[in-house]
Amino acid sequence: MFVKSVCSTMLWFVLFVSVLWSCLMNTGPAQGYFHEERWSPESPILAPRVMIALICRNAQHSLPHFLGTIERLDYPKDQIALWVATDHNIDNTTYLLRDWLISVQKLYHYVEWRPKEEPRKYHDEEGPKDWTNERYAYVMKLRQAALESAREMWADYLMMIDCDNLLINRDVLWKLIKENKTVVAPMMESRAAYSNFWCGMTSQGYYKRTPAYIPMRKQVRRGCFAIPMVHSTFLVDLRKEASRLLAFHPPHPDYTWAFDDIIVFAFSARMAEVQMFICNKETYGHLPVPLRAHSTMQDEADSFIHTLLEVNVRNPPVEPSRYLPKPVKRPDKMDFDEVFMINLKRRADRRECMLRALREQEIDCKIIAAVDGKAMNVSEIHAMGVHMLPGYSDPYHGRPLTRGEMGCFLSHYNIWKEIVDRGLKTSLVLEDDLRFEIFFKRRLQNLMREVESKGLDWDLIYIGRKRMQVDRPEKAVPNIRNLVEADYSYWTLGYMMSLQGAKKLLKAEPISKMLPVDEFLPIMFNKHPVSDYMDQFETRDLKAFSAEPLLVFPTRYTGEPGYISDTETSTVWDNETVRTDWDRKHSGKTREQAEISTEAQNSDVLQSPLDRTARDEL
Ligand SMILES: *[C@@H]1O[C@H](CO)[C@@H](O)[C@H](O)[C@H]1NC(C)=O
Ligand SMILES: *[C@@H]1O[C@H](CO)[C@@H](O)[C@H](O)[C@H]1NC(C)=O
Ligand SMILES: *[C@@H]1O[C@H](CO)[C@@H](O)[C@H](O)[C@H]1NC(C)=O
Ligand SMILES: *[C@@H]1O[C@H](CO)[C@@H](O)[C@H](O)[C@H]1NC(C)=O
Repeated sequence: MFVKSVCSTMLWFVLFVSVLWSCLMNTGPAQGYFHEERWSPESPILAPRVMIALICRNAQHSLPHFLGTIERLDYPKDQIALWVATDHNIDNTTYLLRDWLISVQKLYHYVEWRPKEEPRKYHDEEGPKDWTNERYAYVMKLRQAALESAREMWADYLMMIDCDNLLINRDVLWKLIKENKTVVAPMMESRAAYSNFWCGMTSQGYYKRTPAYIPMRKQVRRGCFAIPMVHSTFLVDLRKEASRLLAFHPPHPDYTWAFDDIIVFAFSARMAEVQMFICNKETYGHLPVPLRAHSTMQDEADSFIHTLLEVNVRNPPVEPSRYLPKPVKRPDKMDFDEVFMINLKRRADRRECMLRALREQEIDCKIIAAVDGKAMNVSEIHAMGVHMLPGYSDPYHGRPLTRGEMGCFLSHYNIWKEIVDRGLKTSLVLEDDLRFEIFFKRRLQNLMREVESKGLDWDLIYIGRKRMQVDRPEKAVPNIRNLVEADYSYWTLGYMMSLQGAKKLLKAEPISKMLPVDEFLPIMFNKHPVSDYMDQFETRDLKAFSAEPLLVFPTRYTGEPGYISDTETSTVWDNETVRTDWDRKHSGKTREQAEISTEAQNSDVLQSPLDRTARDEL
């Protein structure tokens, strides 16, 4: 053993020396016998000079994460100048920016800081999200000032980034520079169709919907495309002659379109014969969907949090800046007595992801270790008194219960037991692979408050599910917005449970007549289509409802890349030798329902009045 490790160390050492030697030979001065034969290779070229311009207003909620993304851009900071302006703030934007600049200024080539403390609002605005002409004019002048500063300092490029746009692709500057375009933007993702470009423009300079937009936005077509308008985050190549004609202010003499900084800029590009481009070759970053004029700062903060959650669905989380204090979070259980989150111990990835998402939303939870059906042996199962519901088989494959489904059932069952043992009046149960709808916490709390104030008698309220009965519409609950009486449904992603509801479920003694938990619940509210199953449970009076629109969704739908289910490649519940790759989310039935009708999907939340802007691309 000892000899072997010495040998391998020697081997590594020899390898190391030879690698080192060949490195020296390639990069060091070339060796020649005569002095005249020696030469040094040319040194590499410095990175082009980039000025990053940030114009931030009332951005306290987004600055820590936003500035984190700026810090982490993979580009030599000594070749970057920062130009930062802020104005008309009613929050602490000025202080945060100033503190950050003080910490980072040494790293950057140059920092220009233009704070304006007073006034704190425009005199004619409805609220901080309102864009009045006075505000447009001011922003145009600021953008123009940034452009001129960049030209004066002979920057090669000007990068404009809105203070809530999260560039998560660290190489984005290099990648845009490589495109060699005068004006080019990285396509930003959002939770809706919205992004930072227009594909069409009317003759009056307004947004025009074109068939080309969606294939680009969804990256069905990938590349860099000529389009009439980019905004929010884009790069201008100041080395190109035509860039000299670009301007934000004053508008071009022929300008008659809307008084709006991005349209003015697009018009100046058109007059200068500069083509704007959008690139969607990869994922570069995310941005929130803009809110409406009357929205509040809280709306904006919540919308930004949702953007962070969305990034985290498919990418590593966005960390806040190292130079600013961490945003303070005060998690609570909303108005529930308990919030349960079910997680399999071995799925630490999901646990971390969910805990982070809940913490961002200031939701506190109790983690319940899921029963790992795969780790149980047959004698344990029998000892617990688990028996399958006589006659149960998957409607499409004729397969009995899987280990995964049994574990899932027992996990939920244990929670119902805890609810009864602790006498919890209202609880929220969440699985660990879900995606939250925007304004999740607020919507859920509003729903709860209405349910309570109207004195609704309820046992179970789904907040995420798959609706299986699609022939008839579900009955809306009178006087309560966003609530319907639940019909046959699948999944147990998220639901509220009352004490009375948990008692009813336990009383049915389902352990001795087990079937998948999401088939069991519809039996208990008497909406299961198979009467043979229903007949085996005498009392089926669970009062079940569903949020409409739903508030949580699976993180990945079946068939999407990266989709892994715990019940996949499971074994049959009482026989370890019988393998099955069947799972509920994969089942033929679920798939077929998805195809039959779009009504089966609950109406999506974007239709709700709280959030109608998201329907539009702008
Ligand atoms: C701004 O910061 C000060 C001190 O750090 C704090 O007391 C105040 O609550 C902050 N204002 C807002 C709107 O968060
Ligand atoms: C970039 O574009 C310019 C024209 O604007 C062209 O002259 C130049 O050769 C291009 N550079 C590269 C590396 O393609
Ligand atoms: C089943 O698991 C239990 C507890 O882990 C163990 O005591 C028992 O020996 C196991 N039985 C079999 C048949 O493997
Ligand atoms: C498990 O299934 C296999 C294959 O169908 C069968 O041969 C075996 O008898 C079953 N074992 C039990 C304990 O049911």
